[in-house]
Amino acid sequence: MPLNIAMDGPVGAGKSSIAAEVARRLGILHLDTGAMYRAVGRTALERGVDVRDEAAATALCCELDITVSHEADGQHTYVNGEDVTGLIRTPEVSMAASTVAKYLGVRQAMVALQQKLAAQTPMLVDGRDICVRVLPNATVKIYLTASAEERARRRWLEMNQKGAPDTYEQVLEDLKKRDAQDMNREVDPLRPTEDAVIVDSTEMNFEQVVENILAIVKEKTA
Ligand code: DC
Repeated sequence: MPLNIAMDGPVGAGKSSIAAEVARRLGILHLDTGAMYRAVGRTALERGVDVRDEAAATALCCELDITVSHEADGQHTYVNGEDVTGLIRTPEVSMAASTVAKYLGVRQAMVALQQKLAAQTPMLVDGRDICVRVLPNATVKIYLTASAEERARRRWLEMNQKGAPDTYEQVLEDLKKRDAQDMNREVDPLRPTEDAVIVDSTEMNFEQVVENILAIVKEKTA
């Protein structure tokens, strides 16, 4: 079995950028599973499918061919051959992704795809249900979190740099809404598993989090 590292955590904990850097330093691939739910959410919005309609969202998901490729600038995500990487980071798509991710049928399709990818090559997989569902036998399991206020602050700074007009209060409110939806859904809600190491990055900078996680990986794989 290839080396698999599972990383879960809430919105804005820095999972994707931390996971990408940890994977780079370990020389393994990084799979951002959130991008796959985002691809489904974005396609639903584009085609006018109501994301609150479980049957319709699930039917849509099952007919889509979602693939990823790992390129020099990171992961690219495709829907039926179209590269949607640059189209899935808007607040609307974030909320739509969180909504379609509640549905069992959608989750089953995404999990099967993720398991197939992780079985092929050493990989660090980040998401919400990786420790419990996608890679229950992962060698290393991390739950990366930070306080809601700190996560919102980081997200707000990042959005502001890109010119988004949202206020800190709006970002915090959106983040809490998405937390509630991701943590309270019936199917595989986000929560730390007993065998995961919790890394609270509230008081840490990027480099400290990366080093912390690399040390955990070293210990678990020794
Ligand atoms: O990590 P992200 O913000 O890009 O994820 C977008 C949404 O997808 C998130 O609100 C919850 C959902 N998601 C999930 O349910 N399971 C995963 N493994 C990854 C993401």
